[in-house]
Amino acid sequence: MKRRYKLLIGLAALSAVAVIGLAMTLSYESPCESAPAAEAGGDYTLAVTARCYGSPEVLRLERLALPALQPQQVRVQVRAAAVNPLDWHYLRGKPYVMRLAAGIGRPDNVRVGVDFAGVVSEVGAEVTRFAVGDEVFGARNGALAETLTLSEDGLLIHKPSNVSFAQAGAVAVAATTALQALRDHGGLQSGERVLINGASGGVGTFAVQIAKAMGANVTGVCSARNEQMVRAIGADRVIDYKRADYTQLAERYDLIIDMVGNHALSANLGVLGERGRLVMVGGNKAGDYLGPLTDALWLRVVAPFLDKPAGSMLAELRREDLQTLADWMESGALSPVVDRVYPLQRAAEAIAYLEQGHARGKVVVSVERSAAE
Ligand SMILES: NC(=O)c1ccc[n+]([C@@H]2O[C@H](COP(=O)([O-])OP(=O)(O)OC[C@H]3O[C@@H](n4cnc5c(N)ncnc54)[C@H](OP(=O)(O)O)[C@@H]3O)[C@@H](O)[C@H]2O)c1
Repeated sequence: MKRRYKLLIGLAALSAVAVIGLAMTLSYESPCESAPAAEAGGDYTLAVTARCYGSPEVLRLERLALPALQPQQVRVQVRAAAVNPLDWHYLRGKPYVMRLAAGIGRPDNVRVGVDFAGVVSEVGAEVTRFAVGDEVFGARNGALAETLTLSEDGLLIHKPSNVSFAQAGAVAVAATTALQALRDHGGLQSGERVLINGASGGVGTFAVQIAKAMGANVTGVCSARNEQMVRAIGADRVIDYKRADYTQLAERYDLIIDMVGNHALSANLGVLGERGRLVMVGGNKAGDYLGPLTDALWLRVVAPFLDKPAGSMLAELRREDLQTLADWMESGALSPVVDRVYPLQRAAEAIAYLEQGHARGKVVVSVERSAAE
């Protein structure tokens, strides 16, 4: 055999071993560690933790020491914290590729949750934007907890008085995603026709309202049981996905925001008008290694060859966007839809329910200090 072929076969074998090794490393799951003993004395918080990858059953409520408050930090007593699909993705460590950042074998960060709303209970000596007693909402890693400590310059905003803690606590991830999908990635203009696939879910219920607030004509796709709710929050038209496939109908859209990813790319592009755009927010869940990223990566590859703009997005939490959302809530243009509310001790049930994929608006965990103890 020529040396060239031997070299090629050697390289192919090495690559195969490397890929198999990486696949085995990524899919390896360490057993669940027990929580370290809680230190006596000092301030503490009860927080939901995951010390291994797995189903919601691995979640625990642990007593964790609070860090000393720094001069620019505030302490927030959480009153409500919402769950998002990202919470069960991190909990399961799936798709596996995300373990490269989240931790190989077990999660590096044991805390769970991001969205929250609550009341400022303590402020550092240099804090100027917040005072004790302020009602706030925002985003912070580990939000499923009684108490959070965060910088006053972090993702923290005053809560409008006309929304409940449960509503404000439901905002950060889902509403930011909807806003950025419509405004930044979709370039939605007033008067345009937008279709929202997955209109009754966490992101969808915000997307319908934000699109309406931006002056669009909104078509929502959901099942019949949610039709009335989706109309009530502003949809001009509703398509029941069990009775009709929107990609087979005559209507054309300027923008499609797709939270579900259950149609072929060509089918979505086929119902876009001449200047239509497609924004993929959610994707097909198939496959443990790449999961919904498969479709997103494929779209990146083919997008330059398509005759209409199409792309996937990853939301980025920003304080200015949370302020925009707070302003809309204050004006009444945006009213978060809350589906079920679970107490902190039953956060695992909240995540399990969300994971079924049929939430009607947002799933929220309420946090009452006395109830959690
Ligand atoms: N790219 C990003 O930055 C980003 C950010 C946030 C979320 N996401 C992704 O976006 C997706 C949606 O998130 P979410 O928080 O809205 O999830 P969610 O709250 O779990 O969405 C559930 C909703 O999806 C609806 N649905 C299920 N099958 C459907 C179908 N075939 N057609 C239309 N609607 C259907 C359900 O309605 P029925 O009960 O009536 O079936 C339910 O109301 C998830 O995949 C999530 O991972 C991406």
